[in-house]
Amino acid sequence: MIITVTLNAAIDKTLSVPNFRLGRRHRTVEQTTMAGGKGVNVARALKALGQPVIATGLQGGPTGTRIVEQLTQESILNDFVRIGEESRTNTAVLDPTSGEQTEINERGPTVTPQELELFRDKLVYLARGAAIVVLAGSLPRGIDADAYAMLLRELKRVDVETIVDTDGDPLRHAVRAEPTIISPNVPEAEELVGHEFNDEQDLVAAVRQMGSLGAKQAVMTTPDGCIAFVPTEQGPTLLRAKIEPREPVATVGSGDAFLAGFVAARYGGATAEESLRFGVACGADSTQRLGAGLIEPREVERLLPEVEVERVVEAAGV
Ligand SMILES: Nc1ncnc2c1ncn2[C@@H]1O[C@H](COP(=O)(O)OP(=O)(O)OP(=O)(O)O)[C@@H](O)[C@H]1O
Ligand SMILES: [Mg+2]
Repeated sequence: MIITVTLNAAIDKTLSVPNFRLGRRHRTVEQTTMAGGKGVNVARALKALGQPVIATGLQGGPTGTRIVEQLTQESILNDFVRIGEESRTNTAVLDPTSGEQTEINERGPTVTPQELELFRDKLVYLARGAAIVVLAGSLPRGIDADAYAMLLRELKRVDVETIVDTDGDPLRHAVRAEPTIISPNVPEAEELVGHEFNDEQDLVAAVRQMGSLGAKQAVMTTPDGCIAFVPTEQGPTLLRAKIEPREPVATVGSGDAFLAGFVAARYGGATAEESLRFGVACGADSTQRLGAGLIEPREVERLLPEVEVERVVEAAGV
């Protein structure tokens, strides 16, 4: 079983608005409303790939009820802790004429320490029956930046792999709690290591550095694939996966689709190379669909040969 954690679950509204202009009134030509938050998106993509997954996290108010109803409608197993304040609604406006995307995310509920404790206990319970726990997305208000770190330390008592996809201070704290894998995108990684990347060498140095910060493995997504620092049968290795970028319909959630693909392959016992290839193919396919975490497994299979994976340099020790 795979568990996905979404502490700031949401209803995600994506509106397609041609010629979107600030200060004008518009009509949408296409609209999707789905349960969201990064962990939920990962769960949706894992479900599409036929993997056993339970989405957990926090939800509250009528919007929280709607999140659970939508997940249940999609046959995504879920087990959330109900909180006092109302879950948020996020709105993305996509302009098909310019390809530009504008996102407006609500602040969302404030979570109490007691609610987080309830969640911690539920997570440890669920993790006992799981192989992988994915902790993804931002933290809600009221929760300390070290909440993921705290959960990771609890999960160490359970025999389970942990994957963290978040940014800023929550990521900084989480890395020190030694998760199995972290998977930032480029801006998130730049913030974590403290400088901007100018070339391939900077990317390589950054994933190496993430290992020394505490993560056992690091996978950084790039708009053209990913770069990873992973143990292989030959010892710690740097791998680079690339795909020719495609004209996207929407890039929202491509990182979540990547992560789901990577996790699905890993769960199925695939090698690091195969898992990265599968992740990149899932990320690429998701850019062709409106709505986060939507992938078409047959299309993903078709894309696999288009992903090039190569070894970069042998890293000495971890
Ligand atoms: N235009 C594109 N064509 C093909 N693949 C893409 C494209 N854009 C992104 N991808 C793939 O999707 C994956 C994730 O990309 P990215 O680093 O942009 O994620 P992200 O910024 O974390 O996204 P999000 O957090 O919104 O889900 C990468 O592996 C990348 O190869
Ligand atoms: Mg991301």
